Amino acid sequence: MRYNFDKIIDRSDTNSVKYDLRKVVFDNPDVLPMWVADMDFETPDFAREAVIKRAEHPIYGYHFKDRPYFNAIQGWLKRRHQWEVPTEWMSFVPGVVCGFNMAVLAFTSEGDEIIIQSPVYPPFHHAVTEHGRKLVYNKLKIGSDGYEMDFDLLEQQAKTAKMLILCNPHNPVGRCWSREELTRLSEICLKNDVLVISDEIHCDLVLPGYKHTPYATLSAEAAEHCIVFHAASKTFNLAGLATSTAIVPNKELRDKYVHFVEALEAHLGNIFGKVATQTCMEKGDEWLDQLLAYVQGNIDYVSDFLTTNLPFVRFFKPQATYMMWLDFNAYSLSELELWHKMTQEAQLGFNRGSDFGQDGSGFFRINLACPRSTVEEAMRRLQIWHP
Ligand SMILES: Cc1ncc(COP(=O)(O)O)c(C=O)c1O
Repeated sequence: MRYNFDKIIDRSDTNSVKYDLRKVVFDNPDVLPMWVADMDFETPDFAREAVIKRAEHPIYGYHFKDRPYFNAIQGWLKRRHQWEVPTEWMSFVPGVVCGFNMAVLAFTSEGDEIIIQSPVYPPFHHAVTEHGRKLVYNKLKIGSDGYEMDFDLLEQQAKTAKMLILCNPHNPVGRCWSREELTRLSEICLKNDVLVISDEIHCDLVLPGYKHTPYATLSAEAAEHCIVFHAASKTFNLAGLATSTAIVPNKELRDKYVHFVEALEAHLGNIFGKVATQTCMEKGDEWLDQLLAYVQGNIDYVSDFLTTNLPFVRFFKPQATYMMWLDFNAYSLSELELWHKMTQEAQLGFNRGSDFGQDGSGFFRINLACPRSTVEEAMRRLQIWHP
């Protein structure tokens, strides 16, 4: 490997949410932090060099996103996902969460029903409830091979819902949805005029052996009835630069969305996010391929460890993302007891499952985008769960 993912980098005192808010979140500043979805790996050297070069220019004034910027994203989506996206479909948004919140505001009204598939990333819930829309849970089902969508329930719910926010691939359960599954979902949504917001921030983190299906490639009709969000932030560890892309194939929806974003002056962004994103989209392939192989190694390590040492902890191997979703329900402890044992006794800072929806109770989400030695240390600490 050309890149060194084993390197330990001290992130304390950098205003890092993951490190510097441990005392507040876990009531323990010493937990091993494996929660917030950013990586403990260096942002790639080519991205840092590009940002430093721009930073050396003495003026950081207003900027705009030019053709080369959108061409870089276009080239990346074509190379990595065989998705041809005309540049006019794309526009800047300051973050995917901000982007889908603006879509909720632009395309639904107070009291409208919005479907999400829990357990799912907490801001999906908030994007609905914080704006007075009605949350409809199309809970995922646990099948013998992993999580599945409940299409029968979706058929019923879609009759009255206005929007569905899809996590594609899914955080936290790590599913890379198949073309067949997504097609079925799209058919139900099209039949019932449900607008699909497809959050594809994890699409570049699909693990070896799996293939991401961009929602807008399912059919011409599906493309006309969706808004897709993409970002380089999760993939290349740029989350602090707040730079993402909205992709809206349908002109009418696009005009309305872009108008909404511009009215809020949310379309400008910061110059360093532009430079880093463009550089990663142009030069990031080799780095990403090596990253994915390393993350897969971490996942294999944890899977083997749990199977051998902690058989009461249940899990499905993720197909995408650098997270694992671990089920501790076999220990028959309350959420509070689990939380206390994990944070105070094991001293591990994982995400609490119930933050992803009630059906996440008894689960923890663990972030494996870190050096192997950190993963090994986490597994050592996890030994206290040995029955
Ligand atoms: C599914 C999903 N969407 C969006 C985000 C965050 O996106 P942004 O930082 O661009 O708002 C995350 C971060 O963990 C995520 O998991």
